[in-house]
Amino acid sequence: MESYVAEVLPRWGETVDKPKVVLGVSGGIAAYKACELLRRLTESGHDVRVVPTASALRFVGAATWSALSGHPVSTEVWDDVHEVPHVRIGQSADLVVVAPATADMLAKAAHGLADDLLTNTLLTARCPVVLAPAMHTEMWEHPATQENVATLRRRGAVVIEPAVGRLTGVDTGKGRLPEPAEIFEVCRRVLARGATEPDLAGRHVVVSAGGTREPLDPVRFLGNRSSGKQGYALARTAAARGARVTLIAANTTLPDPAGADVVPVGTAVQLREAVLKAAADADAVVMAAAVADFRPAVYAAGKIKKKDEQDPDPIALVRNPDILAEISADRARPGQVVVGFAAETDDVLANGRKKLARKGCDLLVVNEVGERKTFGAEENEAVVLGADGTETPVPHGPKEALAETVWDLVAQRLP
Ligand code: CTP
Repeated sequence: MESYVAEVLPRWGETVDKPKVVLGVSGGIAAYKACELLRRLTESGHDVRVVPTASALRFVGAATWSALSGHPVSTEVWDDVHEVPHVRIGQSADLVVVAPATADMLAKAAHGLADDLLTNTLLTARCPVVLAPAMHTEMWEHPATQENVATLRRRGAVVIEPAVGRLTGVDTGKGRLPEPAEIFEVCRRVLARGATEPDLAGRHVVVSAGGTREPLDPVRFLGNRSSGKQGYALARTAAARGARVTLIAANTTLPDPAGADVVPVGTAVQLREAVLKAAADADAVVMAAAVADFRPAVYAAGKIKKKDEQDPDPIALVRNPDILAEISADRARPGQVVVGFAAETDDVLANGRKKLARKGCDLLVVNEVGERKTFGAEENEAVVLGADGTETPVPHGPKEALAETVWDLVAQRLP
């Protein structure tokens, strides 16, 4: 198999047009998920060289890695030295991603150990490095691991926060490898940013997304059409720029972005509680959620029945708290940057300026809404107004492009 691969396919590094990715795999049960990540990378036009550790090969064999990558696979520095000297793998890579990264791998990487091909590659790489840890909760939370993660982040690596969920056995907790599709999204964005430093490394950002639902009775609610896509794009881009992300998700059906702690909420009151809690130690809060301004004054414990031949009773409403105004007026930390969104149908900029002043936030992303605009769409167009008088137009484009601009403006304002 390997000789076939080596003879027929171009050697790694000889394909000039494709971005070169090293996929490091360390020895955890989640190694099987790296097969899916590998497939996504190769199918989207990346030239991938897999560098497993010896223990990773106990979970997924070399034949699988070489068949899926189209390249021979070695774990040791002295294998195939005539073909790919160990230094060249790291030197010529455009991206190194390690998924899963075990506690042992993080410790080795943080301390600069180099006892196999993957650790050598990490030391010779001068490109962006993404590490996707996966381990038991206790191992993740151990101060030794946390210090290693902090060291790696300080040096510019993007360490994706593990997901919360089912671990190897019946236990659940933080430590799960995020879904391969989402790790791929991080890789794609990090590659697109090239040599740009992950400028949100070590920062905690809070993003609210989706739309609140205010229940009338057990089956009905007052809601809105927000899909959550813009908020999720903000969460994904922040994670790829190195941030720890808390995503407060109101009634969304989108997959959890890698690196984000997702807190599901339903109503505006629940959203407020979750945002205030997460904002306590946040460097930035972005309120992308569409929050209902009003909720039914009374919640009917039983389904509201129609009464024959009678007009329906009016629905009495009460005001919901204005979360954006509240967190802007009472910053949980000095220098915390607060961003709001405004959906307007008329006099977009004038209304946006008034709203920015009224809410007291640092930045307000103003977009025009209407039929087929913004809600549920993949693309967006906006102007970001700054409390300092700045105006940054963002042309029609993917929601992630708008998200990148928002983080650029936030990063400029962070202390
Ligand atoms: N927002 C909030 N709490 C609310 C209502 C809105 O935090 N109760 C936030 C939204 O998340 C968004 C911003 O405020 O970031 C603007 O929301 P929008 O609905 O446009 O503003 P309103 O204050 O509702 O103004 P109006 O309805 O008068 O346009």
